[in-house]
Amino acid sequence: MNTIVDKRALGQGIVELLVDAPRIATKARPGQFVVVRLHERGERIPLTLADWDPTRGTITLVVQMVGKSTRELGERFDVGDVIRDVVGPLGSPSEIHRYGTVVCVGGGVGIAPIYPIARALHEERNEVIGIVGARTNGLLFWLDRMGGVCHELHVATDDGSQGVKGVVTIPLREVLSGRKVAHVWAIGPAIMMKFCTKTCQEFAVPITVSLNSIMVDGTGMCGGCRVEVSGKARFACVDGPEFPGDLVNWDLLLDRLGTFRDEERCALERYLSAEAGTR
Ligand SMILES: Cc1cc2nc3c(=O)[nH]c(=O)nc-3n(C[C@H](O)[C@H](O)[C@H](O)COP(=O)(O)OP(=O)(O)OC[C@H]3O[C@@H](n4cnc5c(N)ncnc54)[C@H](O)[C@@H]3O)c2cc1C
Ligand code: FES
Repeated sequence: MNTIVDKRALGQGIVELLVDAPRIATKARPGQFVVVRLHERGERIPLTLADWDPTRGTITLVVQMVGKSTRELGERFDVGDVIRDVVGPLGSPSEIHRYGTVVCVGGGVGIAPIYPIARALHEERNEVIGIVGARTNGLLFWLDRMGGVCHELHVATDDGSQGVKGVVTIPLREVLSGRKVAHVWAIGPAIMMKFCTKTCQEFAVPITVSLNSIMVDGTGMCGGCRVEVSGKARFACVDGPEFPGDLVNWDLLLDRLGTFRDEERCALERYLSAEAGTR
């Protein structure tokens, strides 16, 4: 049982939650996530540890309301409410070393998980170049936090409402053309990570991505998060979620992400009609 101690809107359909979870807060590392179950009848959903404070015993989750469970968490849960289970930290932490110049790319809600990685790389005295992107400026958040841990921060929006007009690969290509970069991290929608990987391959720069495959238990037991990396089956929850982007079978991942589209649509429709009934 974990209590929500603070909640605030970050942008269109995005909320930041501060959750009381002292044991997780003392062990959390960049790149790790938790599996959350809202109540007895709730499904399990993975959410990245976007921040943590061992002194206050809290963790920060940033949630984009895309379907039934994320909408329920963002719309129905408030300060003082209790989340049934928060399990973690799960997954292998990011490999943080002194690389030299590194680029951290966060797309959409991927800005939240890239932030602790950028901060840790900054603390290791890397030169950190941040790139954040979203469809429109109402979906951008934490530019101040990212700015505080990056030596320079590039912004891209699909509609040009802030920063460069277009996708994150535009500033990524510009940065990679202009200087020697040792490593790139990219977190966001699978299609964004696939194209960041292609861009890095052109410049022979290694890239790490965080795979958002469908997860259930988060402990390697159910097989739901299976991905193909370097031609071998791997479980994103325990072997990842971070993998070298150039070794990922992106077509298989994109295909598997759509496996439960009908069930997800039905669950959201049931949630929305129950909501309408309570008004
Ligand atoms: C390691 C990891 C970390 C994540 N971190 C965050 C985060 O910090 N913030 C955030 O907003 N989202 C995060 N996600 C995605 C989040 O888990 C899904 O958006 C959520 O599970 C959707 O559930 P839903 O019922 O609201 O929507 P649904 O309608 O059920 O699903 C919407 C879409 O979300 C994806 N999805 C659905 N169920 C799961 C599942 N069990 N596991 C993974 N993806 C699923 C699918 O692509 C699906 O099409 C993360 C996913 C992974 C794998
Ligand atoms: S989520 Fe079940 S094996 Fe990874």
